[in-house]
Amino acid sequence: MVSFKEIGLVNTREMFKKAVAGGYAIPAFNFNNMEQLQAIIMAAAETKSPVILQVSKGARNYANQTLLRYMAEGAVEYAKELGWEKPQIVLHLDHGDSFELCKSCVDMGFSSVMIDASSLPYEDNIALTKKVVDYAHQHDVTVEAELGVLAGVEDEVAAEESHYTRPEEVIDFATRTGCDSLAISIGTSHGAYKFKPEQCTRDPKTGRLVPPPLAFDVLHEIEKKLPGFPIVLHGSSSVPQNYVDIINANGGKLPDAVGIPEEQLREASKSAVCKINIDSDSRLAMTAAVRKVFAEKPGEFDPRKYLGPARDEMKKLYMDKIVNVLGSNGKA
Ligand code: G3H
Ligand code: 13P
Ligand code: ZN
Repeated sequence: MVSFKEIGLVNTREMFKKAVAGGYAIPAFNFNNMEQLQAIIMAAAETKSPVILQVSKGARNYANQTLLRYMAEGAVEYAKELGWEKPQIVLHLDHGDSFELCKSCVDMGFSSVMIDASSLPYEDNIALTKKVVDYAHQHDVTVEAELGVLAGVEDEVAAEESHYTRPEEVIDFATRTGCDSLAISIGTSHGAYKFKPEQCTRDPKTGRLVPPPLAFDVLHEIEKKLPGFPIVLHGSSSVPQNYVDIINANGGKLPDAVGIPEEQLREASKSAVCKINIDSDSRLAMTAAVRKVFAEKPGEFDPRKYLGPARDEMKKLYMDKIVNVLGSNGKA
């Protein structure tokens, strides 16, 4: 048993309180490898932004949970080396699907866990979430829960249709589970294809898809029911068209990829939404940079020569999100 405090991490409690009061959101970036982690820490240190490092099921399968946890410990020291005296870094389990998994993360030094029981019936979601909260809180680890269903793939849970969170359930859910934050469904979804073309309109000038707006009315109703309670948005990549264009121009094939417009995330950040999850955009930045190197320098075979530019591009993306979308710069 190792406490997250021993390795210099923080939980989300104070961070979220300040973010809700201050009208900004904390970036929650997924990481699977060293270059992503370096880019996240460089961006957070340079902008003095609190940051949440997320470990998904895919990341655990790819890179190993223990290794990722030690990489996060290293990240705290790396942040200090970069001149960030008191790094505000959370290590968070993304989409935990069982009590045992959440417990193992708490026991190995994660400072925050998500129990995603949103695909279960309401009462079962409450029971499992409460069980995780009861254990995590004994160790001062904060817990994110989810109510409502996002369309698309949530790790292994695939849903054809999204079901917006029902505002009439949130008080009961938050009170009975004791969760510290709540992920809601208001029209975001995971991946680079968030909407089918038939759900969108097309900009006649550019031919690009324009997605339907997020359900801000549902968000505002939830805020009224739970004033000041920390709200989380998953599936919040914007799928920047410049990356999609670079990928497609250099041998890739991402037709009609579409994300959440950044203005809407900026708007959401000013509300009780205090954690915004971004993964796919970093994948796109990395892929665009790597494809460009391979197209321009077909003789290149030193991974540092293509992963280096990929890291630079991801750092640029993370800084842009922090400064221009979430507004968390200077808050750590
Ligand atoms: O919630 C979804 C995240 O983007 C993680 O996806 O399990 O493929 O790493 P992953
Ligand atoms: P994106 O696929 O939109 O980046 O969402 C990531 C996410 O919600 C991780 O939990
Ligand atoms: Zn998610």
